[in-house]
Amino acid sequence: MGFSLMIHGGAGAIRDPQRYEASLRAIVKSGASLLAAGSSALDAVVHCVALLEDDPLYNAGRGSVLDAEGSVLCDASIMEGRTLKAGAVAAVRGVRNPVRLAFEIMENSSHVLLVGEGAERFARERRLAFESDDYFRTRERIDQLAKAKRKRETALDHSELDDTKFGTVGAVARDTNGDLAAATSTGGVVNQPVGRVGDSPIIGAGTFADNASCAVSCTGVGEDFIRTVLARTASFFVEFRGMQAEQAACEAIRYLVDKVDGQGGLILVDRQGRCGRAHSTPGMLTARFADGVASVETR
Ligand code: GLY
Repeated sequence: MGFSLMIHGGAGAIRDPQRYEASLRAIVKSGASLLAAGSSALDAVVHCVALLEDDPLYNAGRGSVLDAEGSVLCDASIMEGRTLKAGAVAAVRGVRNPVRLAFEIMENSSHVLLVGEGAERFARERRLAFESDDYFRTRERIDQLAKAKRKRETALDHSELDDTKFGTVGAVARDTNGDLAAATSTGGVVNQPVGRVGDSPIIGAGTFADNASCAVSCTGVGEDFIRTVLARTASFFVEFRGMQAEQAACEAIRYLVDKVDGQGGLILVDRQGRCGRAHSTPGMLTARFADGVASVETR
């Protein structure tokens, strides 16, 4: 059986797509080499999302946007399609790779979602890497927050502020055993009030995986995705309406727009390993590895 892998680095009007292409291609190839060597879909999505979190280009981990107090608080989630096990983390400070913390919560606790200080304590117990404020507070994000405050805006990643790209990163995979997994990670919204949490750590909204249907990771305005439970809605279209990956992705985004005029996109891999992507924004940064070929899409 072959494997499939798809990653995303946010949606929006991508003004400078070539800025992201090399990174997206390198990360999807790195994840594909793990799957080719027999790694699980779960390990591949953690690996890819952690690499996206380490790259300051993306609104997750190191490149996370700043909240209204100039802090970085991160959210992430992961789900395994074979068991429906899931882990998630919200509003954590200093954890280098929030997706690894979501994985630890899934594998080594009896809970799905931990937040704030309790989640950070659990990360220390599991000996995960922490970084100082300086690691996360990049010059680009400091300037972006200042601009948002001048305009009195909150916005996802760059949004209307500069290159109109919505934040969040994610990965979906099917491994050579036919198992599915999905993971998503974000720094949230520029200038967001302290305590605001979007869809990325909400299972069924920002992330979903079930071997009976597909694995899904979303990006966009979190409130829109929570209200439409969009990741689960997309999987419902596969499981109960018999749609293939691309059609289910398109129908889910149509539903997002029809119901709440939602802004964003999603990636999806189904149990046959077919990949789908769709967005209501002008573009979305994605890369896929399917049928032995890596490709990058920025529209
Ligand atoms: N989709 C990320 C967020 O709304 O926080």
